[in-house]
Amino acid sequence: MALVHISSTTTTTTFILVLLASFFLISRATPTPEGSDVDYIEFPLNLEYLEAEFYLFGSLGHGLDVVAPGLAHGGHPPIGARLAKLGFLVKDIILQFGLQEIGHLRAIKSRVRGFPRPLLNLSSAAFGQVMNSAFGRPLHPPFDPYANEINYLLASYVIPYIGLTGYVGTNPELQHATSKKLIASLLGVEAGQDAVIRTLLYERRTQIVHPYGVSVAEFTNRISILRNRLGKAGLKDEGLVVPISEGSDGRVPGNILSADKDSLSYSRTPAEVLRILYGGGDEHVPGGFYPNGADGHIARSYLNN
Ligand SMILES: *[C@@H]1O[C@H](CO)[C@@H](O)[C@H](O)[C@H]1NC(C)=O
Repeated sequence: MALVHISSTTTTTTFILVLLASFFLISRATPTPEGSDVDYIEFPLNLEYLEAEFYLFGSLGHGLDVVAPGLAHGGHPPIGARLAKLGFLVKDIILQFGLQEIGHLRAIKSRVRGFPRPLLNLSSAAFGQVMNSAFGRPLHPPFDPYANEINYLLASYVIPYIGLTGYVGTNPELQHATSKKLIASLLGVEAGQDAVIRTLLYERRTQIVHPYGVSVAEFTNRISILRNRLGKAGLKDEGLVVPISEGSDGRVPGNILSADKDSLSYSRTPAEVLRILYGGGDEHVPGGFYPNGADGHIARSYLNN
């Protein structure tokens, strides 16, 4: 009886040891400490690549392949990106944004394996298409983001705000403190970029964008309305001059930042972000800035369906 008891205790002990060992091995096999957060952390690489290339090309005339070639990881060079005609101040600011995106790519890739640079369509035609959709008619001549400073700033208005709302949406989905810290830190700088672009445009809000005969403020309102329509999730996007009820604290038409009635940032899910970036309002149908679709587990899960 005693012998049997000892043997069964030994078996139980061995069983527990094997369990512990396999648990240890399984946790070691997880690619990063973030585990379940990996998909959410790699997703924004899509937008960070786009921003890096648009800002670096806009200010320097070349992009990651020259400035930080390792970070492209062999991904196709962007289509149609080029040097923009910018004044000294804006060129200086945009270059700094481009360099910040290099840091963002490096930070994300130091945490998750991620993916190489996706194919990006940054041609004048791709931006022209966004503006045509925003106005509901083809602009003549077609909108060219690289032609002058005001066009480049309006094109820039299109981008970091999508990242901002995406990061706000990601935060509550995260499990680990280290992931939350990373995403909050990316959000901080993305929101800063959006604020700088909006401020530069706000200074020029009454300026007429030639040859379209439309003010800067109306361009921003149209772009924001387009993003709301494509995102299909209600009001999450506001231009620079709005009905008073949507302005800062519902008291003025000025709307230097886009935020809800309590001046809290709006948030978007990855699906909403993709609907906007693909330009067609459908996360399953690539296009717009991403002719082959965005990369990473979340974006590809929509493409495979
Ligand atoms: C880039 O976008 C423009 C405008 O939508 C389109 O005409 C062109 O074919 C696109 N290029 C690629 C390679 O997808």
